[in-house]
Amino acid sequence: MTTKVDKYELLKQQAESLLTGEFDLIANMSNLASLIFSELNDLNGTSFYRFKNDELILGPFQGKPACMHIKVGAGVCGTVAKNLTAEIVPDVHKFSGHIACDSASKSEIVVPIFKGSRFWGVLDLDSPKYNTFDEIDEKYLSQIAPLIFGVRSKKYEGAY
Ligand code: SME
Repeated sequence: MTTKVDKYELLKQQAESLLTGEFDLIANMSNLASLIFSELNDLNGTSFYRFKNDELILGPFQGKPACMHIKVGAGVCGTVAKNLTAEIVPDVHKFSGHIACDSASKSEIVVPIFKGSRFWGVLDLDSPKYNTFDEIDEKYLSQIAPLIFGVRSKKYEGAY
């Protein structure tokens, strides 16, 4: 039986090979959003938000059109931007201030993305089912999201 951990280990390898050698952020966010959305079950949204001018602004995503600007402290994404820690929301209807971009969303996970030690943005996954996400999602998504900054080809290791 394929476990969630097996699935994520494979997803991590797929993400690394997909992004190896590419350092364009828009290309990498686009492909990573698409890979996550197609490989994980029970998703209706996978969105990158960048932290710019003291707010979050929508980046490449998959799913229904999403809200474009989110203030720090607003909704799940803004709470992550404020606290700089991941949020796992088993039932979005019970999260005070949740921003409903797609009314089908029932649970959500948002992980912060850091570039070095600097907060750079968030990765937001939405699910049409309750209780979809747990610490395994948090662990792997936190490792996978920063791959958008580029993965160096092993072939050229030592050349940098
Ligand atoms: N639900 C999020 C807003 C982003 S959309 O789901 C893509 C929130 O409450 O921050």
